[in-house]
Amino acid sequence: MRIVFLGAPGSGKGTQAQRLVERHGIPQISTGDLLRAHVRDGTELGRRAKAIMDAGQLVDDATILGMVRERLSADDTARGFILDGFPRTIPQAEGLDALLAEIRKPLRAVVLFEVDPQLLIKRISGRRSCQDCGRVFNVHTAPVPVPPPCGGQCATPRLVQRPDDNEATVTKRLEVYEAQTQPLIGFYRGRGLLKTVDADAPLETVAERLEASLA
Ligand code: AP5
Repeated sequence: MRIVFLGAPGSGKGTQAQRLVERHGIPQISTGDLLRAHVRDGTELGRRAKAIMDAGQLVDDATILGMVRERLSADDTARGFILDGFPRTIPQAEGLDALLAEIRKPLRAVVLFEVDPQLLIKRISGRRSCQDCGRVFNVHTAPVPVPPPCGGQCATPRLVQRPDDNEATVTKRLEVYEAQTQPLIGFYRGRGLLKTVDADAPLETVAERLEASLA
């Protein structure tokens, strides 16, 4: 299964990707997570990316494509992958097309997560993630269950809030999504790859709709 998850910030791409990983055993490749790892490790790219991410803007296409090319060369992508939050611009989508043609791994589907924009800011402001395993929760809609889901080191998840999850940056991210990422809907519809999931529903319902769209 080789798929792309497309949707506004907070539409549930990461949450559903984590579930598909558990069910299908293919990796989630989130360009946001890859960039945050660079920021955490203090690399040159991380230092450059941090200011851009904190401003709610996009990191340049060449950097992102280089990062994805490297990640897709790893052995764990042999059975498939979920590209979460990539591509986000037409040049990134064209670059991905070329890369996948080169490695002979064409996409099977692009899933668009549709959510009422009014809900997104509330969802994002309530998001918390486990600092150790990255699992995503929400103080309003998806609290940490008792007992907590991860054994071992995350038996008691240490929850943190992302620095770009404040209202001003989220507003900017939504504007950037509309201007630079929404054109991908037409791009992938034209290629016959687009599947739309109504993601304005409880997590389990969205998961069922997602599986149905991929069947
Ligand atoms: P990134 O990390 O990709 O953030 P994003 O696209 O803005 O997406 P989010 O992670 O905010 O949302 P999501 O859809 O994954 O929602 P989630 O499942 O967590 O990117 C961050 C930054 O990195 C960008 O701004 C940019 O600067 C840079 N970047 C990344 N990729 C790039 C690229 N390709 N090119 C250039 N720059 C790039 O859900 C949100 C919350 O809602 C959670 O708390 C969750 O528990 C809850 N929730 C989820 N589903 C439901 C539901 N059905 N009902 C109720 N609550 C729900």
